[in-house]
Amino acid sequence: MKLSTILVGSLATLVSAVPLFNLETALETTNYSPSDEKLIYEFAHQLTTIDQFNSTNSTKCEKCIERLQLGKSIALTKPNLIFPIFTKWCIDNKVTDETTCKMTYGRNTVLNATSGTNFANLLTLMDPNSYDGQLYCHYQSDKHCPLPETPKIDMSSYWPEKQDKHKIAPEPSNETYNVLHISDFHIQLDYSIGSEANCSQYMCCTDHNYNKFEIPEGYDFTANLTQDQINNLSYTPAWYDQDFELEHGDSIDISNSTKWFPANTFGHYNCDAPEVLINSSLKSVAKYQEELGLDFKFSIFTGDLVDHDEDYHLDYEKIIKSEEYIFRDIKTTLKNIPVYPVLGNHDTYPYAQLAQEKSGFGNILDWNAELMGDLWEDYEWINGSTARYAREHYTGFAVETTTNLKVIALNSNAYYASNLYNYWNATDVDSFGQFQFLIDELIDSESKDQRVWIIAHIPFVQEALPIPAEVFKQIVKRFSPSTIAGIFFGHTHMDQFNILYDGDVLEKTEENAVNMAWISQAVTPLTDNNPSWRYYTVDTKTHSVMNSFNYYTKLNETFYNESEEPNWEFEYSARESYSDVVNEWPETSPLNATFWHRVASGVNSSTEIAQTYNNFKRRFSPYVPQCIGTNDCDGSYCFLASFTLKEYEACLKTFNEPEFY
Ligand SMILES: *[C@@H]1O[C@H](CO)[C@@H](O)[C@H](O)[C@H]1NC(C)=O
Ligand SMILES: *[C@@H]1O[C@H](CO)[C@@H](O)[C@H](O)[C@H]1NC(C)=O
Ligand SMILES: *[C@@H]1O[C@H](CO)[C@@H](O)[C@H](O)[C@H]1NC(C)=O
Ligand SMILES: *[C@@H]1O[C@H](CO)[C@@H](O)[C@H](O)[C@H]1NC(C)=O
Ligand SMILES: *[C@@H]1O[C@H](CO)[C@@H](O)[C@H](O)[C@H]1NC(C)=O
Ligand SMILES: *[C@@H]1O[C@H](CO)[C@@H](O)[C@H](O)[C@H]1NC(C)=O
Ligand SMILES: *[C@@H]1O[C@H](CO)[C@@H](O)[C@H](O)[C@H]1NC(C)=O
Ligand SMILES: *[C@@H]1O[C@H](CO)[C@@H](O)[C@H](O)[C@H]1NC(C)=O
Ligand SMILES: *[C@@H]1O[C@H](CO)[C@@H](O)[C@H](O)[C@H]1NC(C)=O
Ligand SMILES: *[C@@H]1O[C@H](CO)[C@@H](O)[C@H](O)[C@H]1NC(C)=O
Ligand SMILES: *[C@@H]1O[C@H](CO)[C@@H](O)[C@H](O)[C@H]1NC(C)=O
Ligand SMILES: *[C@@H]1O[C@H](CO)[C@@H](O)[C@H](O)[C@H]1NC(C)=O
Repeated sequence: MKLSTILVGSLATLVSAVPLFNLETALETTNYSPSDEKLIYEFAHQLTTIDQFNSTNSTKCEKCIERLQLGKSIALTKPNLIFPIFTKWCIDNKVTDETTCKMTYGRNTVLNATSGTNFANLLTLMDPNSYDGQLYCHYQSDKHCPLPETPKIDMSSYWPEKQDKHKIAPEPSNETYNVLHISDFHIQLDYSIGSEANCSQYMCCTDHNYNKFEIPEGYDFTANLTQDQINNLSYTPAWYDQDFELEHGDSIDISNSTKWFPANTFGHYNCDAPEVLINSSLKSVAKYQEELGLDFKFSIFTGDLVDHDEDYHLDYEKIIKSEEYIFRDIKTTLKNIPVYPVLGNHDTYPYAQLAQEKSGFGNILDWNAELMGDLWEDYEWINGSTARYAREHYTGFAVETTTNLKVIALNSNAYYASNLYNYWNATDVDSFGQFQFLIDELIDSESKDQRVWIIAHIPFVQEALPIPAEVFKQIVKRFSPSTIAGIFFGHTHMDQFNILYDGDVLEKTEENAVNMAWISQAVTPLTDNNPSWRYYTVDTKTHSVMNSFNYYTKLNETFYNESEEPNWEFEYSARESYSDVVNEWPETSPLNATFWHRVASGVNSSTEIAQTYNNFKRRFSPYVPQCIGTNDCDGSYCFLASFTLKEYEACLKTFNEPEFY
């Protein structure tokens, strides 16, 4: 039996065995014993009292911490009462809108990605009176506490001192091989042709999306199109068959549509990727590989499989299906190319949650690591012992490629600000043990003069908590430039990079550039970008990236192509496109931190170069800002010239740039 059949089958049984949980009834105290009912009212009232102006604690920060203290005492004795108590308090005091209150504090169910269970678990673990409480009330409670000062961190006891021979990068050879980098597919399983693509929600193009404003009388969404475009509108369902030929269904009549912009066959700039677009992107990879004789030695995938729909439209089964479908589609198209994947913040349930094994709650999220270990082993991307390692280490693993490079894969939810478990004992430099694993692997590789790539989903410049960001930075400094040959992230959906400098914010000089991280663009068009992927030429001896080649499709052209196949084109290569900016970069030099420092400096000093970068960032989509003659591209520089969020914020202040990336 096919793996997918087993999974979907067993999940269906699981789903039908669970009584339909309705959050409305969760609030109805009739479900609770009279004494619990009394407690719910009592404690919800106490939480409300804390909010009052005359409470003993006066600042928002103190109030937030006091609520956590009360919550902790409840969670330790009556954990099941956390859901109704906090939900009631949240709704009564209009802390957020009612739905968000229910999603934040309601009990997690198979059908609704509420995170109250994880909140209750956290309360039992955390110490609200410590750094934990301060950090939580900063990131999870609307910055009610100022960001607590990051304790001084010194990781040097974790490794032997750096030897002189490790202070220089190895010399490249003359030969290269090719590696594919794909990221952020975000499959939208309920993508619906003809639904609203110009909606009032974050993600559009499902039947439950709508625009808050009705279309005006006589509105015609084709009003400004050419006759050719009108003749060629794409509203026919399409999919790839077993031979990877595009098949079509019956055309959908949208002539009486009441939408501002009825969603087309292949996707939209406000929507995640319908599966047909994902298949099209993968088919274009296979096509270019063959046409150009690229012979990819392996591929990295830097995470995010699941779509951006609101949490109450996400259920357990949808997460598993999204994970299974995309890995299946990748396997079918890339065939024997090994793929080294990481999971992203969306690839879990509920959203972003990951619990440390030692917390005692690790088992509630183990299903995901089990599934990934099985899938990746079935697809022969990693072998049995590596898969076992991934199952036991939050899907993280280390693998040696056929080219003798080591790839280390990390799960970035272990440092992500939206993972509630990261607010437990938050001063612990390594509560997941993931950094110890990374360091052990780096020490091992250093001793063998082996080079390493690190892959993870979320770059540390974004939404990473300050302590792990500092730890990672120290690790990268210690093992650069000799051992770490590349760092690769996804997550932002944009084509970007981050530079790590030694020294402080004013010393972003060429001499101080230590290493850099590549941030891959995405296949999903969501947030106004054209779908895209890239490959690298990599030096055979040093595994340094020598060049990058990006391919994309102009999504807006697929709106008017009669639902025929999207056309994937070459977009740019970094070495050639930035050759004037970096000024004489020898063919034999890798695209390392020095190269990217020069690009970032160019973006800072010239609006033309900022325009080039911004064109690439969104792959020439209709939403690329005009840099020349406007301030719309200010802020690009600090993002590129920072490695952690703390550095980024300091840079914005110093250079007086607005937040923008
Ligand atoms: C604050 O004032 C309200 C209304 O006057 C009262 O119900 C509440 O008990 C007071 N709280 C404290 C902590 O004194
Ligand atoms: C808030 O007030 C309570 C007593 O009502 C006190 O125990 C607690 O320490 C105070 N918390 C803060 C953060 O001041
Ligand atoms: C690199 O290749 C060029 C031409 O292909 C050759 O002249 C040169 O000797 C090679 N260098 C090394 C270090 O192999
Ligand atoms: C067509 O263009 C006009 C003028 O730019 C604009 O006001 C109108 O909203 C456009 N109509 C549609 C359906 O896009
Ligand atoms: C995508 O490709 C997979 C095989 O890789 C196929 O099973 C699936 O039906 C395809 N879906 C669409 C929408 O093209
Ligand atoms: C669209 O509206 C016209 C006029 O009301 C009607 O005749 C036609 O059947 C409608 N088409 C569809 C597909 O509903
Ligand atoms: C999208 O919807 C808004 C109303 O919410 C409207 O003002 C705007 O013109 C629409 N744009 C398009 C391209 O349909
Ligand atoms: C999930 O929660 C939301 C918000 O309370 C609710 O509207 C929706 O019906 C729930 N969905 C399911 C399947 O229970
Ligand atoms: C909390 O972190 C410290 C290190 O900062 C560690 O020594 C301690 O064991 C951790 N506590 C738990 C319960 O894991
Ligand atoms: C678009 O329409 C024109 C004329 O109506 C036609 O010649 C052309 O082939 C069409 N293009 C596509 C991609 O369908
Ligand atoms: C990048 O490569 C150039 C040329 O090989 C070298 O001079 C420079 O030191 C390297 N930069 C870093 C940060 O390793
Ligand atoms: C698609 O968008 C690009 C960038 O704005 C524009 O140059 C191009 O003309 C658009 N194509 C169509 C068919 O609208």
